[in-house]
Amino acid sequence: MAWRRLLLVASILGICQTAWSQSPTFGVGRAPTAEEIRAWDIAISPTGKELPPGQGTAKEGAALYVRKACAACHGVKGSSGGHAPTLIKGSEVPNTVPCLSPCVNDSNVMAIHSPYATVIWDYINRGMPLGKEGSLTPNEVYSLTAFLLFKNDVIKEDEVMDAQSLPKVKMPNRDGAALPPEWKHGEPRLQGYP
Ligand code: HEC
Repeated sequence: MAWRRLLLVASILGICQTAWSQSPTFGVGRAPTAEEIRAWDIAISPTGKELPPGQGTAKEGAALYVRKACAACHGVKGSSGGHAPTLIKGSEVPNTVPCLSPCVNDSNVMAIHSPYATVIWDYINRGMPLGKEGSLTPNEVYSLTAFLLFKNDVIKEDEVMDAQSLPKVKMPNRDGAALPPEWKHGEPRLQGYP
């Protein structure tokens, strides 16, 4: 009897194994095409090795900041006082958004607290202007990034930003950036937040 039971268990396991290895399909979706994957694959790493050709300066960025509606949401001086994050330090309207520690002052500003300049390029390229994402050319993104870096005293007005120079920008908070402390069971998730 025992060997029969063993055989039954073995054959059930065998069936499961076959079903598992055939990896079930659910009749929804389809595999993305290589072109679709390329279109989604736009992440720019800290080294900037994925940055496309192109270039821009703060002067060009200043004009684009108004023309591409950045000013409408973020404020002409870089702060709308809370509707959209502050982009330029020292704006008259106080920033109301809390920031992760460690924070340098005015450090809610991405162009100051971000450890890598490429983060700003990536963010603008993938997410801005809000509602018209993906509409900016690489030159425009380089120019807008240069404008924000210049206005926050990180680069000079005439510095040309491109795939080589942008990753080399020494960000003021490069060494200050830290991940939130490791989470332990029972602790609130985001320490430092109200
Ligand atoms: C329709 C309003 C709107 C427009 C137009 C807009 N933004 Fe934004 N922007 C936002 C909002 C809202 C956020 C915050 C999004 C979030 O945190 O999820 C944001 C976030 C950002 C950030 C990240 C800031 C941070 O500290 O996290 C940058 C950089 C930025 N925008 C740049 C730009 C630039 C450059 C333009 C013009 C090309 C632009 N934005 C146009 C609303 C806008």
